[in-house]
Order: sequence, then C-alpha cells, then structure tokens
Amino acid sequence: MFDLPAQRAHLSEKYDLAPSPELAASMSDIYDRMSRVVSPVDWAIYAPYVKAINDLKAERNAVILGHNYMTPEIYHGISDFGGDSLQLAIKATEVEADVIVQCGVHFMAETSKILSPQKTVLMPDMEAGCSLAESITAEGIEEMRRRYPGAPVVSYVNTTAEVKAASDICCTSSNAAQIVAAQDSHTIIMTPDQYLAQNVARDVPHKNVVWWEGSCIVHEQYSPQDLRDFREWNPGTRLIAHPECPPDVVAEADFSGSTSGIIKYVTDEKPEKALLITECSMASNIADELPEVDFVGPCNMCPYMKKITLEKVLYALDTMTGQVEVDPEVADKARLSVQRMIDLSRQLGI
Ligand code: 13P
Ligand code: SF4
Repeated sequence: MFDLPAQRAHLSEKYDLAPSPELAASMSDIYDRMSRVVSPVDWAIYAPYVKAINDLKAERNAVILGHNYMTPEIYHGISDFGGDSLQLAIKATEVEADVIVQCGVHFMAETSKILSPQKTVLMPDMEAGCSLAESITAEGIEEMRRRYPGAPVVSYVNTTAEVKAASDICCTSSNAAQIVAAQDSHTIIMTPDQYLAQNVARDVPHKNVVWWEGSCIVHEQYSPQDLRDFREWNPGTRLIAHPECPPDVVAEADFSGSTSGIIKYVTDEKPEKALLITECSMASNIADELPEVDFVGPCNMCPYMKKITLEKVLYALDTMTGQVEVDPEVADKARLSVQRMIDLSRQLGI
C-alpha cells in the first residue's frame, strides 16, 4: 500500500515541486501537445514534476513506455514511447536503456520484464491491475485444455506471466483475429476476454472459437442502446469502439480497433465529430493533433490505469522502488508465448 504522505515528504525534500507558471512557460513545446485538454493552471502544477522526471530519466538511463490510456501529462509530458499493448511490448524488446518505467498496468510491466529480463522494470503503482488479468489463473487454462483437448490456447496479453506461460501464444486487440486465423486447428481457445473472443469469432467464421468468461470493467459498461441513443441525439458523429466491448456494441459502431487502430482511424478519417467507445484518455491524447475533430463524450475511466500519476512515477524513479520481478522459469515459458505473437505479427505484417 502507498504511504502517500511519506512519499510526498520524501519528494518535497529533494525537489522543488511548487506550481510554477514560469517553468510551465519555459516548457511550452511540451504543453503544446496537450493545450486543448490541459488548462494552463494545471500545466503549471504538472510542469515541475515533468521536468524532475525527465531530468531523472537521463540520470538513470531510463525510458518511459506510456500506454494510450495514460493521462495527457504522462503520455505527452514524460513518455518516450506511446502506444497500444503490442507496440509497447515490441518497444520493450528494442530499447537500450537500463531501466523501463511502465506507465500502464501491471501486466504490461510484466510483459516488458519477460521480454527484457536483464532490465530493471519499474511499476509506479503495483496495484494498477486489470479486471481481465485478474479473471483467470494458470489452473483456468488447464481447465479449458481439459474441456477442449488438443485446442491451442491464445491468451490476450492482459494476463499474468503464469497464464502466459500456460498458453501457446499471446495476442493483443490489434492482432487477435490474425493470430487465431493462423492457428493450425479448427477449435481455438481464447482467454480471458469473452467479448474480444466473440468479436474475433465473427471475423474468423471458419474457426470454432471458444472462450473464458472474463471481461473488461471499462468496455463492458457500454450497451448497444447507448450507441443508438447517441446517434439519434448527435447525428453525424462517428462511433468508434474498442473490441473489448460486447459484440452487439461493436456491431453498432462505425469502426472497431485496438487503441492504436482507433488513433489511426481518426487520424486518417478526420471525422467532424467522433465518440470513442473506450477509455477517456484516448480522446484527450489525440485532441491537440487533430484540432479539426470534435471529440464528444461520454467515455469511461479505467480505475487501474488512472492509478499512475506523475507523483508516483517520480517517486519510483527517484527511489528505484516498484521493481517488477517474474520467476525466471515462468518468464522463460511466458516469453515463448509473447515472442511467438511478436514473430507471427511481424510475419503477417501487423
Ligand atoms: P490495446 O492493446 O488496444 O492498447 O488495449 C489494451 C487495453 O488494456 C485496453 O483496455
Ligand atoms: Fe484492463 Fe479494461 Fe483497464 Fe484495459 S481498460 S487495463 S482491459 S480493466
């Protein structure tokens, strides 16, 4: 558990973190990437943290990998690389730094550690979990194997290292359908996201996709009626859904894709109005780059992603606490599943 008062006391002894309009003004190049969604007053509060973190990164030879769901001050202020789960996993294999700070959720940090065991991987808040990763254990995978003998197990990267180790191959939302289609078996077990699996089953009708009953607490909240109502009240809005949404929600949307797929779609199409049926920070992070697009609500927040704050990142980097460890034997097996996914994705040109 976090002892926030103690952490704050530690940080304030070492850093001048008082809001500073002068410092904020001197960092306007960074602010320009988020000025549509972050007020100047908030930027004056964030700027001292952003400067301290960026200075420390250089000192520690660290890189920050920021998922697309991070808040703009993290995504644009301190991340060296932003992206979806697949892009961040690949980046973890490529960066040469000694330290990776994972601004995302725990399974992403574990994936980085699995792929780069020699690097120090820091998780600013160990309690940044994921409802999907929590929904299944390695025993669950064995149960599915008993139910469907001989069927390969394709597990979403939103899983623990133990689950990855018990699976045959991983997938993310940007390659799930292609990974399933490429399996040499008619029946494919997909875990743990029932909705991603059902969306894949629709896209790969020649396969018999069976699934675990997990779900994402952010995306399962949408209903098809929400989308129909929204369309009626806001004609002309492009509705864009993440494939962790139930299939009847995806069916009502104009496009569905991974978080990076969504960014690419909006960047290419530049609709006048767009509703992103996903986590709230997605729209915030691309708002400045796409001034011609009016991003309209509502959105849902991921309480796990939102545990990551500038303050926690600074504390983790300063004290080098929050180091992610994976049992080497588990990591070796999990690496096979993740690496198979990366290799197959490259082969398929994803
Ligand atoms: P992406 O792989 O699309 O970034 O999704 C990760 C995630 O956790 C979405 O909820
Ligand atoms: Fe997990 Fe959903 Fe949060 Fe993504 S948005 S980290 S799938 S709970």
